[in-house]
Amino acid sequence: MSKPVRVAILFSGRGSNMETLAQHLAKPDVPGQFVLGVSNRPEAGGIGLCTRANIPCAVIDHKAYDTREDFEADMQKALASARIDLICAAGFMRLLTPEFVTHWHNRIINIHPSLLPAYKGLNTHKRALDDGAKQHGCSVHYMRAEMDDGPVIVQKHVPVHADDTPDTLATRVLAQEHVAYPEALDIVLEKLASQQP
Ligand code: GRF
Repeated sequence: MSKPVRVAILFSGRGSNMETLAQHLAKPDVPGQFVLGVSNRPEAGGIGLCTRANIPCAVIDHKAYDTREDFEADMQKALASARIDLICAAGFMRLLTPEFVTHWHNRIINIHPSLLPAYKGLNTHKRALDDGAKQHGCSVHYMRAEMDDGPVIVQKHVPVHADDTPDTLATRVLAQEHVAYPEALDIVLEKLASQQP
């Protein structure tokens, strides 16, 4: 049997997607292992989730660095010392340089709260409502140098209701994010597991 894929999860906030992935990775038949959390915000709620799950968490505060490159150099060190095979970005609100993303080509995936390529960037729910969109949703995709770009692995649609606010729509989308991310992870893990030595 091949060795489990070593997974790091990058986050900046409450970490509900990370928690969903952590629960998925804890299943014995899933060929991956959650070995490192990485937060760029010392106040992120997700740090407590790592502590409670007994998963090491590297808190690398981007504000402590003069340049994006220096910040990423420390992330790379943490990822290398944990011998990470795959990065899952889950609400990681920091742009990564093309050099970083290229280094992890096809080994870094992200979740975005829209049906990409629609609504790249921030405030996706409000923008969908402002446009009168009838359908909205989320996408898990391989990361590429351009923000919210890259091959889509899984998408989930949700209907937009006439009385939706950005918050009600976000709640409906988030429930689907928690379905989409484990599904996408399974697809990626299967590919990577077959490449492990
Ligand atoms: C999610 O909606 C994710 O798609 C977006 O930020 C939110 C993070 O939520 N990029 P959580 O921290 O995973 O709960």
